[in-house]
Amino acid sequence: MKALVTGATGFIGSHLVEALVQRGSQVRCLVRNKRHLGWVKDCPVEFVTGNCQEKDSLKQAVKDVEHVFHLAGVTTAVKEKTYFEVNALGTENLVQACIENNPRLKKLIYVSSQAAAGPCRGGGKKKESDPCEPVSPYGKSKLMGEQLALSHSHELPLLIMRPCSVYGPRDKSFYALFKSLSKGVKPCLSDHDQHVSMCHVQDLVRAILLAAETQTENGGIFFLSDGQDYLMEEIGDIFAQAMEISALRLRLPKQVLYGMAFFAECISRVSGKPSIMSRGKVEEMIRKNWLCDITKARTLLGFEPRIFLAQGAKLTLAWYKKENWL
Ligand SMILES: NC(=O)c1ccc[n+]([C@@H]2O[C@H](COP(=O)([O-])OP(=O)(O)OC[C@H]3O[C@@H](n4cnc5c(N)ncnc54)[C@H](OP(=O)(O)O)[C@@H]3O)[C@@H](O)[C@H]2O)c1
Repeated sequence: MKALVTGATGFIGSHLVEALVQRGSQVRCLVRNKRHLGWVKDCPVEFVTGNCQEKDSLKQAVKDVEHVFHLAGVTTAVKEKTYFEVNALGTENLVQACIENNPRLKKLIYVSSQAAAGPCRGGGKKKESDPCEPVSPYGKSKLMGEQLALSHSHELPLLIMRPCSVYGPRDKSFYALFKSLSKGVKPCLSDHDQHVSMCHVQDLVRAILLAAETQTENGGIFFLSDGQDYLMEEIGDIFAQAMEISALRLRLPKQVLYGMAFFAECISRVSGKPSIMSRGKVEEMIRKNWLCDITKARTLLGFEPRIFLAQGAKLTLAWYKKENWL
C-alpha cells in the first residue's frame, strides 16, 4: 500500500504511521514544518510539507498514493473560526486536491469524530443513521468537514470514521485526568454522571486499516469505540485502579466548569496557545449520553475491539511513566 497520512505528527496519526510502516506500506506524511516531526521523526517515511488550509500546498502530497488517511485537524483552538478553517475547509481542500491530482486514488479515509454526530438523546447508543446534533464548535466543524467531503463523494472513493474519545500512549486529553488522579483528586460532574464510549488508539488504528482494505459503499460512515458503556466516574476509578491509588471525588457543578472554561479561554487568548478546556468542551461534558453503536463497523468492516479500558489504562499508564509524564 502507498499511503498519505495527514496529521501524522499527532497522537492518532503517529500510531497509524507506525502501523503502516510495520505492515510494509510506503508512507508519505504531510507535515506543516519539517523541523517539528514529533513522534514520527525517526520513522522510515517520506515527509512532504503542506498545510490543509492552502490547497496548492497539497498537490505534491496527494500524487500517486493509493490511500489517503486524513487525520489533520484541530481538537483545541484559540479562536472558534480555526475549527472551521482547518477541520471543515481544510478537509474540502484535501478532497479537491485528491480529485484534481490523483484520479487513481483507491480510498480517502476521513477521520471525523463522534462529536460531529453529537450526543445520543435519551438512552441507547447513537447510530450512524441518527440525525447529527453537534453541541460544540469542534463538533460542528467536523460535521461540516464530513458534509463538504460527502458533497464530492461522486468524484472520489470516500469513507468517514467517527471515533469516540480516544486514549492511549501520547494522548494529552485523558492525561489531564491521570495527572489529577496522581494528585489524589478525581474530578466529576456534580449533578449527573455521563455514559461514554471509549477507544484505545491501537484499536482505532486497526479499524482504520480495516476500512482501507475493505470494500464499502462510497461515502459510508462508521462509529468506532470499544463497544462498552462506561460511566465517566467509572473511568476515573479504572484509571485510579491502574495507578494503584485512591483519589478523593471532587464534584464540580457545571457553573464552575463554565467559569473555569471562561478563565482558560482568556488565558488562551493572551498566550495564543489553545487550552483543552473551553466552553465548547463544557457543552460536550455536560451531555448525559455519549454512547455510539459500532454494529456497522463490526458487520461491514469485521472490526472487533481488543483493548478494553482496564487493560488500556495500564498500557497508557506504563507509557506515561516510561516517558516521565507521570
Ligand atoms: N483524540 C481524540 O480523542 C479524537 C477523537 C475523535 C476524532 N479525532 C480526530 O482525529 C484526528 C487526529 O486527532 P489527534 O488527537 O491525533 O490530534 P493531534 O494530536 O492534535 O494532531 C493533530 C494533527 O493535525 C495536524 N494539523 C493541524 N492543523 C493542520 C493543518 N492546517 N494542516 C495540516 N496539518 C494540520 C497537526 O500537525 P502539527 O504537528 O503541524 O501541529 C497534527 O499532526 C483529528 O482530526 C481529530 O478531530 C480525535
